[in-house]
Amino acid sequence: MDRRPCEFYAVTDKEILRNLASVKKAGAAMLEGSATAVVVAADPDKADTWIADSSIALTYIHLMVADQGMGSCWIQLHMRQSADGVDAEENTRNILSLPDRYRILGILSLGIPAESKSGKKPEELDYSKILRIDNEN
Ligand SMILES: Cc1cc2nc3c(=O)[nH]c(=O)nc-3n(C[C@H](O)[C@H](O)[C@H](O)COP(=O)(O)O)c2cc1C
Repeated sequence: MDRRPCEFYAVTDKEILRNLASVKKAGAAMLEGSATAVVVAADPDKADTWIADSSIALTYIHLMVADQGMGSCWIQLHMRQSADGVDAEENTRNILSLPDRYRILGILSLGIPAESKSGKKPEELDYSKILRIDNEN
């Protein structure tokens, strides 16, 4: 429907990155040392699919960053709180002066990976999660 609810804030300002590092109580500290953060915000008045749209956007940025030879970490904000119990989305809206109605599913922290980890091997995957539904059973 071409509603385009998402906006992308590419943050390189060191002080803002430091503030973003404490928007939630755990799992965002690496933002303080990251080169850039991409905050994916969405206007829910434009599309009630903002969670799906933001998720797709975060995922594709994740892949594109890897394609450019860098790394990124997905930082969940939705349903998370800071150490003092304030909603992580609210904290982020305040830091970036975004409208109150905006929703923020997550942030990507960008940088050069210090190490590279191997992915899971095919034999480690749980194939019981793939269920076949057809006319034969
Ligand atoms: C929806 C989602 C939310 C995540 N939130 C965080 C986060 O808040 N902080 C963090 O350091 N990593 C976060 N990550 C990154 C995960 O820690 C990372 O993808 C990890 O490799 C997941 O391991 P697994 O695939 O074995 O579950 C998140 C990843 C996803 C997909």
